[in-house]
Amino acid sequence: MDDFFKALNKYDDFTEQLKETKLNPSLTVLLYGPPGTGKTSLTRGFAKKYNIPICVVETDRLVSPLLGDTIKQIRRVVDLAAEIARDRASFILFFDEIDAIGSERSNIHEVGEIKRAVISFLQVIDRINYEGVPLAIFGATNHQNQLDSAIWRRFTFHLRFDFPDFHLRKKIIESFLNKIKNAKIGVDESIFINLENEYKEVQSFEKDVKRKVGHRLSEFDDDLLWKEIIKRSKIDGILKLTHGYSGSDIERGTKVSLLKAMNTEILTYDMFYKALKLVGGTAIHVDRQNRLSSNRSSNRSGKYGNKIEKNEGPPEI
Ligand SMILES: Nc1ncnc2c1ncn2[C@@H]1O[C@H](COP(=O)(O)OP(=O)(O)OP(=O)(O)O)[C@@H](O)[C@H]1O
Ligand SMILES: [Mg+2]
Repeated sequence: MDDFFKALNKYDDFTEQLKETKLNPSLTVLLYGPPGTGKTSLTRGFAKKYNIPICVVETDRLVSPLLGDTIKQIRRVVDLAAEIARDRASFILFFDEIDAIGSERSNIHEVGEIKRAVISFLQVIDRINYEGVPLAIFGATNHQNQLDSAIWRRFTFHLRFDFPDFHLRKKIIESFLNKIKNAKIGVDESIFINLENEYKEVQSFEKDVKRKVGHRLSEFDDDLLWKEIIKRSKIDGILKLTHGYSGSDIERGTKVSLLKAMNTEILTYDMFYKALKLVGGTAIHVDRQNRLSSNRSSNRSGKYGNKIEKNEGPPEI
């Protein structure tokens, strides 16, 4: 992501270099993965870091049931963004929930109209790339299985997001707790101590599992690890509880715990744990939806909206 933003910041040099290769400087990124895993906030964060203006478009708002209107809206937004990009030397147009165009989920009911909207969107992206406008186009979706494959292919970079593994969960939890502390609300040290102890336990268990599978565990192998922990270990705590939670779930849990802490003036481990438990994790809903949508698409062949990638579960040890 860093490289991408650097390239966008030095768009002119980058295009010069690419001219030699006869490749188009296509700055398009598709972010995909479950809700609340940081697709929008990470992009906003990078845009801020590199001081590049960004406009986040709620794509479903562009979609109109009136024939032809969707296409007009898409063109209007991209033309405006291209104009700003030329003026400002760089600009990011972020199509949130891009599956609203060209997926079976979209609220355009006529198949021909979906097709035309998709084609128009693709033409617009191609034109931007061809004209060499310093405009980066981002698309984000949490229904990647339903996204039209032509849209998928138009994006040069694909960045997969997933529920945070236990390393990242620890960092996210600590960062929210530190925010509370900075706001001068008491946080019982036992939360940090328990978290650190549980982290160490999980780490040493992770080493065992690595030895068993014979390879490094990636951030996407968190499911595999917890399956083993649940089967064979006594580890119990916030990291275990939040397996399958998104960053956004942890944020919601923290907010709920704050309501309690307002009364007692200190946030205890017990209060924090209970609040996180109360909000629950998103993974369980996503799994259910994936199962439902894969049943639906296997019953219905040849309809518009292609399946891109099958979500495979973790390998068995
Ligand atoms: N990795 C993370 N680290 C810290 N905070 C996170 C992380 N992921 C998500 N969050 C928190 O969750 C909130 C929501 O995340 P965000 O809206 O970026 O997710 P998203 O992937 O775009 O979700 P959606 O698919 O629903 O649009 C953010 O404001 C942030 O506070
Ligand atoms: Mg988002």
